[in-house]
Amino acid sequence: MSPPGRPKGESFEREREGGPVDPPGRPEGESSEREPEGRLVAADALAAARRMLAGVRRLAVLTGAGMSAESGVPTFRDAHTGLWSRFDPMQLASPEGFRADPPLVWRWYAWRRELVAKARPNAGHLALAEAAAHFERLCVVTQNVDGLHQRAGSRDVIELHGSIVRSRCLAECGALFARPEELPAGEPPRCPRCGSWLRPDVVWFGERLDPEALAAAERACTEADALLVVGTSGLVYPAAGLPMQARRAGAPVVIVNPQPTEIDAVADAVVRAAAGAALPALLGGAGAV
Ligand code: OAD
Ligand code: ZN
Repeated sequence: MSPPGRPKGESFEREREGGPVDPPGRPEGESSEREPEGRLVAADALAAARRMLAGVRRLAVLTGAGMSAESGVPTFRDAHTGLWSRFDPMQLASPEGFRADPPLVWRWYAWRRELVAKARPNAGHLALAEAAAHFERLCVVTQNVDGLHQRAGSRDVIELHGSIVRSRCLAECGALFARPEELPAGEPPRCPRCGSWLRPDVVWFGERLDPEALAAAERACTEADALLVVGTSGLVYPAAGLPMQARRAGAPVVIVNPQPTEIDAVADAVVRAAAGAALPALLGGAGAV
């Protein structure tokens, strides 16, 4: 299966909003070439990023699939290994795709659920969980549905795209299964209350994010003294808009990613490194409290 070409600035909400959501504009006079040396030399960037985090009391952290890559959970858009290089997102991650073939989509999520169940939090997840004690607030806003932040011990986690561990009723009768082992039999199982299909409790393309989760994420990012952005391509809105919101609210933005991202120009420092190596180096001994 080959993925269809997707426009930059993808949005889960584009269908209801009537078109792709444009990425926020850069402040006047800035471009991705701003401070090219400081951005690209990892050691300098790490030192700069550490300075930016020194004295921070409220830290927000936005994470994407790269956060879990070192746990063996594939990302979506990395060449060759990304899920969307092998699978069609419209078939497997949209309400239309589910309605067209519920068992196919259910089995794909069951495969991912098993993969995630076997995965272990990596050094990056653990560094974030351990660092929480050093801040007044350390809020993790994640696009990941794998639950690895919570399993690492993070308690203040906002799941923007839902959770692969939970399943809910397609007809929205309110039935929710928080644990896979509680699910009724079948592929997909039927809702015990209303007989509709059960579906994974994740946000699909064309669907709205939970407004409360999004509002809480926006609050966390705009109230933070700094925002750390880890392992996201910055292509999917509204999550990809959070760094600009934080920056406009006055918070320095630090990106950790081994590859360039769509939102590098929003960052004050870009650390070109994997999460498992960078986060312990960045957060060891950090925090003002
Ligand atoms: P992507 O797959 O788009 O991007 C993954 C990012 O992680 C890339 O920028 C990689 O360079 C980076 N990366 C890879 N390995 C890394 C590592 N070890 N450490 C740090 N970064 C690393 O994933 P997302 O940006 O999370 O939605 O994608 C956003 C959303 O699109 C997902 O939540 C998903 C997808 O469709 C759902 O399916 C619900
Ligand atoms: Zn139901």
